[in-house]
Formats: sequence, C-alpha cells, structure tokens
Amino acid sequence: MASKVQFGSKIGLIAATVGSAVGLGNVWRFPAETQANGGAAFLLLYIGCVFLLGIPVMLAEFSLGRGKRSDASGVFKLLAPGKKWWIVGGVAIIASYLILSFYMVVAGWTLEYMWQSITGDLFAPVASNHGQSAIDVMDYQFHAKMQEYIVQDIKPLVMTYIMLAINLGILLMGVQKGIEKMSNILMPVLFVLLLVFAGVAMTFPKADEGLMFFLSPDFSKITPAVAVNALGQAFFSLSLGMGILITYSSYFPKETKLVRTAVTVSLLDLLVALMMGFIIFPAVKSFGLDGHGLEGATLVFVTLPEVFVQMPASQLWSILFFLLLLVAALTSTISLAEVSIAFMQDRFGMKRTSACLAVILPLFVLSSLCSLSQGSMSSLTIGGMTLFDFLDNFATNILLPLVAIFTCIYLGWFAPKGYFFNELTNNGSVAVRLYRPVLFVVRYLAPVLIAVILCTKLFS
Ligand code: PFF
Repeated sequence: MASKVQFGSKIGLIAATVGSAVGLGNVWRFPAETQANGGAAFLLLYIGCVFLLGIPVMLAEFSLGRGKRSDASGVFKLLAPGKKWWIVGGVAIIASYLILSFYMVVAGWTLEYMWQSITGDLFAPVASNHGQSAIDVMDYQFHAKMQEYIVQDIKPLVMTYIMLAINLGILLMGVQKGIEKMSNILMPVLFVLLLVFAGVAMTFPKADEGLMFFLSPDFSKITPAVAVNALGQAFFSLSLGMGILITYSSYFPKETKLVRTAVTVSLLDLLVALMMGFIIFPAVKSFGLDGHGLEGATLVFVTLPEVFVQMPASQLWSILFFLLLLVAALTSTISLAEVSIAFMQDRFGMKRTSACLAVILPLFVLSSLCSLSQGSMSSLTIGGMTLFDFLDNFATNILLPLVAIFTCIYLGWFAPKGYFFNELTNNGSVAVRLYRPVLFVVRYLAPVLIAVILCTKLFS
C-alpha cells in the first residue's frame, strides 16, 4: 500500500514538501497581491498569518497524515469509522484535482515561454502596434503575444500534454525515486536561480524605491479586506486545505518532528515569496513598469518579459526565469496529483502504475477543456466565467477554505483525546512548548477566520 512508502531522507522530505508549497502562488500570486494590497503593510499581515494560522493548520494536516498513514480521505475513515468525516478528505481530493486541471495549463504556458525564450521568438515583433512611447509599444507587443498564444487551440494543448507526460513520468517512478529525487535536484536549482535574480535586481537603478514599497509599511493601508487577502494568500501558498500536506505527511517516518518540519517548510516558502518581492519591485520601479499589469498572468507573461528586454542578455534572463517558474509549477503539480494517486492506491488497492494512469489520463481531457476555454470554447461559460476561471474560483475560494475549516474542527474537537498532542510530541518524546496556543488556534481562531475569508469571497 502507498501509505507504507516513506521519504528516504530528512532533506528529501523537506525538499518535497517545500516543492509542493512553492509554486505559482509564490512566484506570481504573492507579488501581485502585495502590489494590489498596498505593499509592505500587506507583507506584514501575510507574515503574521503564516505564523499565527498557517503553521498550526499545517500541523493539523501533518498530524492526520503522519498519524494514520493513509490518503486524505482514508485518514478520516481510520480515525472516525462509521462517521461522515471522510467527506472532508473527499472534498480535498476533488479540490486538488480540479486545481490540477487548470494549473497544468499554466505550467504548459510556462513551458511555451521558456521554449520561445530559447528560440528567441518571444522577442520577435508582432505584426502591428498602436503604442506611442517605447514602453507602450513594448507593452502592446507582449500583451498581443500572450493574447495570441493563449487563444489559439493547438499549441497550448500540446504544451499542456507535454507537462502531463513529464508529471506522469516522475509520478510513475514513485515517492522516493520520483518525487523525492526530483525535489532534491530541482529545489536547490530554484533557490540558486532566485538568488541570482535577487542579486541582479539589487543592481537595478531604482532598486531602493522598489524595496521601500515592499519593506516600509504604511499602516494606514491595513484594512479588513487587506487582512482577508493576506490570510487567503497564506493558505494558498502553504498548500493548505487540499489534502496535499495530509498525503505528503503520510510518507513521513514516525520519528519526523512535525513542529520543526512545519516551521522549516513555512519559513522556506516565505523566503521564496520574499525573494520574489526583492526581484519584482526593484524591476518594475526601475524599468518604468509601475502601474502596468502586475496581476496574475500579466505579471509573468507580459510585465517581466518587458523587464528582460531592457536588460543586457535578455534572452538568457528570460530562459532562466521561465525555468524557475517551470520548476516551481512542476513540483506543485506533482504534489496535487499525488493526492489522488494515494487515494486510488489506498481506497481501491490499485498498483502505483494503474493509479498514476487513472489520475493523469483523464486530465488529458479535463485540462484540454480548461485550455480550450481560453480559446475556441470561451463562449461556453459557467456563472459568467470560462471553465478555467470557474474552476479556479470554485476550488480555491470555496472548496479550499471549507476543507481547512472542517479539518480544524475535526482535529480540534472530535479527534480521539490526546491524538493531536501525541502526534506533535511523537508520543511525549519531543517537547512542544506551544501546544496549548496551537490547539487554541486550531479549535477557535482558524475556523472562525477562515469562515470570514469564505464569506467575504462568497458575498463580494
Ligand atoms: N502552494 C502551491 C502554490 O503556491 O502554487 C500549490 C498550490 C496551492 C496550487 C494552491 C494550487 C492552489 F490552489
């Protein structure tokens, strides 16, 4: 059974878990949210949310997975037989699968942009432009490029399929030889690339202005809406509420110190987000792109190429950046897929190969629909949104908070007495001084605050 498999080393375990957490959420969502929510004030709240809520909720998920060694739904079945709590895990599995279907499409775009950076096509002029200043011309050029690319049918599909095939290849190799080995190689690559980019960004002419925006807080910018966004970003970035951490921690050995692991993973995830801030804000201030699209896809596929064009050796920086993004996306898609694979193995007793195929093959259809919903199927909408946007909104804004709330309620109130304490302390052999505050957060603070996010998203 999959649940008996373990990560082979402490480093591998951390690399894999950090790989799952570090993804598009850090590289493009974090800078975009920071920009939209007023800079340093948001950063401060974000750091607060990671420590106050993120780490306790991560510990709740770790204790479920490591304690019961099963998939996201199986842990609830084992802990509460005959009860309906397994539905919480079931929803997590569905959420992670839906997220995977569109995340894979974005991973495909990244691959295309890396390829176009290698061939130089990314910087070839588009047919016509209507801009006046040099920056407007360039802005038009990259917007047009992205639009042109995303709305076509075939190319994005091919790139998505290549990403699916790469995922399948790694997943088929198993937890130790596939996921762990890949993370051991790719995570150091990611950190080195980030360091190089951060170093280069510090030499930009207006780096200090960018850093001021990112690091010197204007407290008047702290509002309830900004706090809600900071909490949402912390949950997204730490991969909470999707069954990922339950699944990965089911591969943790019994001796793993859960608190130390949760703190390490959260700090490294935060470090990546901070480094992205050190890169993006100096870049946009220095190249006159402040106020240009920093939201989601625009930041990565339009604004950053505009920065690269203005740097010497543009092609090299572009290739390296899209490689970084690809690494971040790949380690996250692998973890999203593993949630369903572990479920197939544990629930239906499937062999790893069959489970991988059963999870990845249907994605060729589902991800195709997501990809086409940006192109020739864009008129087919659900609640006014394309399939891509609908799945993103539904899974991340609704399913993810619901799972997180019920996971906390189960562990805080209904789990067998002493279960959480025994897991955190490895049956009393590790001292955990902050157990009471952590339990307080899991019981009261986290469910209430996540419910606030959920209501805000539902009614805004
Ligand atoms: N934590 C990863 C990221 O920040 O990209 C993975 C992930 C989180 C994927 C949340 C999708 C998601 F909705």
